[in-house]
Amino acid sequence: MTDEQWSAVDRYITELVVQPDAVLNAALEASIAAGLPEISVTPGQGKLLYLLARTRHAKRILEIGTLGGYSTIWLARALPSSGRVVTLESDPSHAAVARSNIARAGLTEVVDLRVGLALDVLPALAAEGQRFDLTFIDADKPNIPAYFEWAMKLSNPGSLIIVDNVVRGGAVIDKASDDPSIRGVRRFHELLAADKRVSATTIQTVGSKGYDGFTIVLT
Ligand code: SAH
Ligand code: DHB
Ligand code: MG
Repeated sequence: MTDEQWSAVDRYITELVVQPDAVLNAALEASIAAGLPEISVTPGQGKLLYLLARTRHAKRILEIGTLGGYSTIWLARALPSSGRVVTLESDPSHAAVARSNIARAGLTEVVDLRVGLALDVLPALAAEGQRFDLTFIDADKPNIPAYFEWAMKLSNPGSLIIVDNVVRGGAVIDKASDDPSIRGVRRFHELLAADKRVSATTIQTVGSKGYDGFTIVLT
C-alpha cells in the first residue's frame, strides 16, 4: 500500500463514517490560511478522541499541544454541559488561531486555553488542584516522558491518557537513534513497560498523515 492509497481510504472513511462538519472544516481551513503546520489529527483520529472521551464520560479533559484547536474542538464536543478542556500551547500565534476557531465552534466557555511551555503550566495546574479524566499528549515529542508523568499525577483513577505520534514511521524500534523525538517515544514506552499502575497498548496507524501510531493508557 502507498501513502496515496492510505489517503484515499482516509477520505472514504471520513466522508461516510466520521462526518466532520462545517465548523471543523473551517478550523482546518483557517489554520492553513494562517500558515500553521498541517499536523492536526486526521478527522478519523479526532472522532476517535471524541468517542473515547464519551465512552469515559469525561468531564475534565487535558490537552498538551493545541495548534489551531482542531483536536480541541473534537474533545470539547464530547463533554457534558459542565465539562471543561484545558489545552496548553506554547506558541502565541498558534493560540490566537485556536482561540478564533474555538469561538467559531461556540466553545469559548468550555475551553481553557493556557499559553506557555507545558512544563511550566503543568505544575500550575497541579497547584490549582486540577484533575482530569482524559489527557491527550500531542506537543513536542522529546518531552513525552515528562508529559506522561504529569498526566499520571493529574489523572483521576480510571482515566485515559492518549499519546500521539508514538510510532514515527517505524523509527520507534530504532535503538540507535539519536533523534530526540525518537528517543522520547522510546523512553515513553519503557516507562509504560515498568509502570505497574497502568494498562496500555500502542496502535499503529496509516492514513493521510502517513505511518504513525498512538498509545492508549488506562490509569
Ligand atoms: N493537537 C493538535 C496538534 C498539535 S501540534 C491537533 O491535533 O489539532 C503540536 C503543538 O504543540 C504545536 O502547536 C506546538 O506549538 C505545540 N508545542 C510544542 N512544544 C510545546 C511546549 N513545550 N509546550 C506547549 N506546547 C508546545
Ligand atoms: C508533528 C507533530 C505532530 O503532533 C504530528 O501529529 C505530526 C507531526 C511534527 O512536529 O512534525
Ligand atoms: Mg500529533
